[in-house]
Amino acid sequence: MNPATLRALLDRWDSEQKLLRVKKEVDPLYELGAVLNSKQGKQPFYFENVKGYHSPMVGGLGGDRQLLADSIGVHVNQLIPKIIQSIVSPVPTNLVASAPVHDNVILGSFDLDTLFPIPTFHEEDSGSYYVSGILVVKDPSGLKRYTSIRRMQFLGENKTSVLITSPELLHQFYDYEKRNEPMEVAVMFGVVPAVVLSSQISTHLYHTDKLDVAGALIGQALDVVQCRTVDLEVLAEAEIVLEGRVLPHERELEGPFGELAGYYGTRALQPVIEFSAVTYRDQAICQTIFPSSYEERLPMALVREATLYSTVRQTVPNVKKVHITMGGVARFHAVIQIEKVTEGDGKQAALAAFASDKDLKHVIVVDEDVDIFNPEDVEWALAVRVQADQDTFIVPGAKGSPLEASHNLRGVSAKMGVDATVPLGSKDAFKRTSVPFGPIDLGDYL
Ligand SMILES: Cc1cc2nc3c(=O)[nH]c(=O)nc-3n(C[C@H](O)[C@H](O)[C@H](O)COP(=O)(O)O)c2cc1C
Repeated sequence: MNPATLRALLDRWDSEQKLLRVKKEVDPLYELGAVLNSKQGKQPFYFENVKGYHSPMVGGLGGDRQLLADSIGVHVNQLIPKIIQSIVSPVPTNLVASAPVHDNVILGSFDLDTLFPIPTFHEEDSGSYYVSGILVVKDPSGLKRYTSIRRMQFLGENKTSVLITSPELLHQFYDYEKRNEPMEVAVMFGVVPAVVLSSQISTHLYHTDKLDVAGALIGQALDVVQCRTVDLEVLAEAEIVLEGRVLPHERELEGPFGELAGYYGTRALQPVIEFSAVTYRDQAICQTIFPSSYEERLPMALVREATLYSTVRQTVPNVKKVHITMGGVARFHAVIQIEKVTEGDGKQAALAAFASDKDLKHVIVVDEDVDIFNPEDVEWALAVRVQADQDTFIVPGAKGSPLEASHNLRGVSAKMGVDATVPLGSKDAFKRTSVPFGPIDLGDYL
């Protein structure tokens, strides 16, 4: 059975020696983040001794394709089909009356900073931030639960700011604001990578209950429990939950903060959350994500790959694999592998990719003999299969991403497609060399 709780997953990784346990005291001010980021978010860390706090903190849980695939019991090649299947066939959650996340309940006045560590990451960040909390809201009909991650800067006592960039949730908040009402939220910490992954599924594309999608990814109905001070459900075995309300007509300055694209986001007024309760398990384990690390990028890339694959398949049914690269900040670069059956498939696949996602800037299409997860192999295809005057196209002045500095400078973004597939009639001239022997175990020879 796939681990459905953080504790079960940590136990498994501990027994498989995949969990890096840090016994030395680490300071949540820069040091914890620096140690976590030494593995770029690709390796799970367990910080046993966080300076000034009794609770341990974990990070780096969901930044490696292989580990993520293992955590939901699929082969790494099956990640995208599994995500698509989980969106199509979610598994409804199971409502329970009492839950470990209510082992401890703090109501009334409290200071978040004294309860659990809130790390500070980059030199110019404006303060300490929650970066990994899974924010739960109800959809406007009240029937579905939408989850997402929104960074929250600690403002003092029981308040944080919240950065919401998705138009759908932002408009939902504005609708509450017009009615002079707060928007209820709950923020979960201490969850398995599948819950982070499902939170990245686009609401406006799928309008699906993301906790049910998480259940489908893990392969079992997840237990949820009613919150104590807001009308929302949270995972019964989350480690820590903050319950609160985004206040209407209240804004606080937020930023700068080191963002996804590797630059500092600017300082601006953002909405404010006032928390009404903190609930947590006995011996709660805190969780964080290093901003912009693989752990932030991979879940975003995977859900984009699922959408990309589905869209390209509509006009190029012979698409084999797609890869939204980490170097391309999990949204600007895609490599698509196809089995070319008609001339034009390459450029058609790139066109379909641009139609699937406004953020994509550069798309490379390759044949089946190129490993799209190996940047050197992709570069090889560019070097020996592309003539720029014939195999590329550029669309100027299209829509881009506000997370991309060169787009922001101009207000529009160019799209470049590269068809690195070989001409259909010339496959023999492009046959790769091979050695009919092996694989070699050097131990047999040395
Ligand atoms: C680690 C991490 C941090 C994120 N931080 C933010 C953020 O601060 N603000 C934001 O709007 N989106 C952030 N995102 C992206 C949203 O979580 C994502 O767009 C959303 O979940 C997609 O669902 P939606 O369509 O309901 O918005 C973050 C994602 C990850 C993985």
